Amino acid sequence: MQMSKQTAHTHGDPCFDGRMARFGGDLHAALTALYGKRTDFADWHQRLIDLVWRAYDARPQHLKALDEARAAADTPWYQDAKMLGYMCYPDRFAGDFGGVKQKIPYLQELGVTYLHLLSVLKARKGDSDGGFAIADYLSTNDNLGSIDDLEGLISDLRDAGISLCLDFVFNHTAREHEWAQRAIAGEKAFQDFYFMYPDRTVPDQVEPLLDEVFPQTAPGNFTYVEDAEKWVWTTFYPYQWDLNYHNPAVLLAMLDNLFQLANRGVEIFRLDAAIYVWKQLGTHCRNLPETHVLIQLFRAAVSIVAPGVALKAEAMAGARHITKYFGHADQAGKECQLAYHNAAMAALWDSLATGSAKPAYDMLSALPEKPEGTSWVYYARCHDDIGWAALRDTKGAEWGASDEHLNWLWRFYAGEVDGSFARGRRFQPVPGEAFAGSNGTLASLAGLEAALEAGDDIALDLAVRRILLLHAVPMALDGIPLIYMGDELALLNDYGHADSPAHQDGRWLHRPVMPDGLEGFTPVHQSAYARVRAGLRSLIKARKHLPLLGAMNSSRYLDAGNDHVLAFVRPAKDEVMLCLANFSASEQSVDAGVIEEVLGAGARDISPLNGICGRRLNELGPYQCRWILGEKTE
Ligand code: GLC
Repeated sequence: MQMSKQTAHTHGDPCFDGRMARFGGDLHAALTALYGKRTDFADWHQRLIDLVWRAYDARPQHLKALDEARAAADTPWYQDAKMLGYMCYPDRFAGDFGGVKQKIPYLQELGVTYLHLLSVLKARKGDSDGGFAIADYLSTNDNLGSIDDLEGLISDLRDAGISLCLDFVFNHTAREHEWAQRAIAGEKAFQDFYFMYPDRTVPDQVEPLLDEVFPQTAPGNFTYVEDAEKWVWTTFYPYQWDLNYHNPAVLLAMLDNLFQLANRGVEIFRLDAAIYVWKQLGTHCRNLPETHVLIQLFRAAVSIVAPGVALKAEAMAGARHITKYFGHADQAGKECQLAYHNAAMAALWDSLATGSAKPAYDMLSALPEKPEGTSWVYYARCHDDIGWAALRDTKGAEWGASDEHLNWLWRFYAGEVDGSFARGRRFQPVPGEAFAGSNGTLASLAGLEAALEAGDDIALDLAVRRILLLHAVPMALDGIPLIYMGDELALLNDYGHADSPAHQDGRWLHRPVMPDGLEGFTPVHQSAYARVRAGLRSLIKARKHLPLLGAMNSSRYLDAGNDHVLAFVRPAKDEVMLCLANFSASEQSVDAGVIEEVLGAGARDISPLNGICGRRLNELGPYQCRWILGEKTE
């Protein structure tokens, strides 16, 4: 590998030079916006160009071929209706990388095309926030196998049509990371990788403006590090040290890590905790403009080195902010290609609890259309809690859900409200706050656990319908549907998590070990699972056969004239699909005229979940989600 010292931005490789001509301007603009005032800017610029060249040079030929094929495609690969995501902890899913390899047929049978493996890169020993405290970005956790084993797995997955997604934990490193250790040892260059203060003066000024992410288990945002005799910025746990991107050395070191992983074959990077990544004293340090510039810089660099790679925003922010992680205004489409729609996720649970489609409608219809070439990631559950704060600023602070309502949801999903079907738990309230997040598996939150306990057939039927509804809506929306490990089996909460000292954090309630078979399930649970399995399989199959469900066509939301029913349209060139989703436990109908208006007279039912349909097109059974296809009338 040669370190280029060229100063002109040509490399002699037409492919690289072409990309540099196209994206070099964005790269330069972002770098200038962040570091342009430095006297040594030219030097950092050169170092960045060298890094990008080196990474491109080192990229294996088969990945360069993948980049080219993807760049030549008419529509981005991740917008295809065939895309289906699955996320899991490899150790809990299959033991280790070898075990995951053996489960490739399982994933293929489910229809998975993108696999997000959590907690893969070498985390600190002991408690590691579920693997989000990384001690080394270029090696893997010992219990899973080596980085070479991971590379082998990635290649096997790709042969099976599955792209690998990893977390890129770029807001912080573990205290055990070499950079932090050298900072503790007193090396100034590495102390500048973090935010370190000799006393409480700055922390005391900043703290009142900041979020408390884990107020119970990790109160405050600063940690006193005795060995270094300094206060260190730690947004999450005390052992997770926030990186200081004001220092361009941090940017380059993290970009280098990202490229090395991309060159091992990782195809999607989930930009973890993206909203916190740029800090500015005197602000709340969330979603700052510089955060976006930083992501634009990552994107431009990836577009040059590895355009087959996609960035996915994990921006747990209110609705007003999340679309911006695709890039907005003149930067539209220049940040992440993918973004979790956490606001839609929380709104779907709100609708399920209230029996009203309004929260989901208000949320989904309020957001600006995503830019061209991007895709949402829709999901019902993931490894984190359901953060209700996402509903607080649905359309700006003045009309988001009230604290009173969010407090009600919080109690509802902990099973503390009369009539609640849920068996979840509250997560980490901030003292004085009315609510925080909710933990629990999809099945337990949707009522299956309570129904099994009560031995109530009607409740059980409704729970299965709710589970399928929360699979069916994401499958029809304009993004990649993502299934969280165990939800395809209707797994219940894991109450044993607290027995393990490393699993005290309440989110382990919904991180169960995947069972080998269904022996541990009661016969009734087995039959509920069989219905979930059949329904989910039908949904996936139907989605994959409907190209119009690809993310290139944005969803359009309608007022169906019935508060219980969420209605949205997926328009394509000639055809249109209407999705009607009943969030109530009773039968509902919508005006037949609405269907005719959207789909013309020839509308036909293509609902994958036929077993739970009402009879006429405009009628819906409890929690039914109906898909109707017709010709475009407009
Ligand atoms: C993300 C992860 C979460 C973790 C946090 C800190 O939000 O999803 O599990 O605790 O980042 O890394």
